[in-house]
Amino acid sequence: MSLDTGIRFAYLIAAICFILAMKGLSGPKTARYGNLLGAAGMALAIAMTFATPGLTNFGLMIGAMAIGAVIGFPAARLVKMTAMPQMVAAFNGVGGGAAALISLTEFVNANPSKLAVYQVVEVLFGVIIGCVSFAGSVVAFAKLQELVTGRPITYPGQQVMNAVVGGGTLGLAIAVCVSPHNWLVAVIGILALLFGIAFVLPIGGADVPVLISLLNSFTGLAVAASGFVLHSFVLVVAGTLVGASGTLLTRMMSAAMGRSLPNILFSAFGSVITAGTAEGSADRTVRSASAEDIAVLLAYSQKVIIVPGYGLAVAQAQHVARELAELLESRGIDVQYAIHPVAGRMPGHMNVLLAEANVPYEQLKEMDEINPEFQFTDVALVVGANDVVNPAAKNSPGSPIYGMPILSVDEAKNIVFLKRSMRPGFAGIDNELLFDPKTTLLFGDAKDSLTKLVAAIKQL
Ligand code: TAP
Repeated sequence: MSLDTGIRFAYLIAAICFILAMKGLSGPKTARYGNLLGAAGMALAIAMTFATPGLTNFGLMIGAMAIGAVIGFPAARLVKMTAMPQMVAAFNGVGGGAAALISLTEFVNANPSKLAVYQVVEVLFGVIIGCVSFAGSVVAFAKLQELVTGRPITYPGQQVMNAVVGGGTLGLAIAVCVSPHNWLVAVIGILALLFGIAFVLPIGGADVPVLISLLNSFTGLAVAASGFVLHSFVLVVAGTLVGASGTLLTRMMSAAMGRSLPNILFSAFGSVITAGTAEGSADRTVRSASAEDIAVLLAYSQKVIIVPGYGLAVAQAQHVARELAELLESRGIDVQYAIHPVAGRMPGHMNVLLAEANVPYEQLKEMDEINPEFQFTDVALVVGANDVVNPAAKNSPGSPIYGMPILSVDEAKNIVFLKRSMRPGFAGIDNELLFDPKTTLLFGDAKDSLTKLVAAIKQL
């Protein structure tokens, strides 16, 4: 077998590793194995790249990899679970930017006038999508990191402006196909960067996770395009896998939020949005109680549903939540966990946290399965969740979360919220449920409150 055939064969194995890795990542039990397999495939692909005959610039390649490792390794080790979406946005943006630069460099290095139209189209595809993904991911990162407001940023004439930038990019792309010039491609890259920013600005609050998934699929497509430019089939396979899986995840997340993708991407376009708020909430009172009172309510229930949300992750309260559930079960109470698909800040966030605390899988109930049970539930214990139980999603057509399916906590006989204050959740809107006569609040950090509840129930 020649070296060239050997390298191609190794690339094929790497591509198979990527496909099997995706399969492994689809379930919590096999995710770790899937991750390792993906990493092994990537290590093999990198090794084969270095083995490719005629390769130059080894020093530059190793230097770039060293810089990437110095930044990436500690970032991945140190990132808090709650900041994971920002990290995904940042890494995704870097991937899109790299794909755009590869396409641009190949165009500049080739003699553009000798390129066939299909080759110019491949380059343009990589540059445009890569630049949109890079700039969009930077803005998404800034929104999630709260460097800019998470609310939709809109201004009059926004549609016209975006249409001009988007149309201008496509018009110039056609011009480059007719008459390829380096400077025109550079201008297209700049316009695509502007379009990426403009496209993401009006997307706000609860829609950012869907956006990141979409940008992730864009990056995959840009990488696949650079694979065509470089004649690297492993890049084409890897990019297509990311593009396809990102698209599927985007569709699934939109469905979980009960919204169509165009609605998520364009509903705030050109309008000046004011988030819905609980009417006159500033003048209204809520009912709060002590841990001891709520302990009595829980201990003498027959059925309790725990509804975890982002606050559970912030407080790292998953272990004590399981302890409380076990204590209640030991008193003969039926306890289940209601998992909303976008609770927390990343897909599967609650599943990961509760699995870490060894909560049995069979106690975790998906939204569709658990919703009919709330009406028979004595206490819905909402631990650091807000948007995913906010009835504004059902009742307030003007609300940014209107249409998102929610957990039917409002149907339970009693509702207990564990939270620190009256501050709203991710979408920035008040929650009418907090003022419901059936609702009691226990103010404080979720871990402290759960610990107090455990202690109080043990005293009964
Ligand atoms: P949120 O609506 O963000 O509500 C979190 C609640 O936790 C807040 O009410 C907050 O109130 C409370 N909290 C925060 N820290 C706490 C602590 N240490 N102890 C006790 N409570 C604490 O969360 P959710 O209901 O899980 O909804 C998720 C939202 O994030 C949705 O809008 C979703 O679209 C969006 N999102 C989801 C994802 C994915 S994919 N899951 C990614 C990004 C964004 P206090 O501040 O008063 O304590």
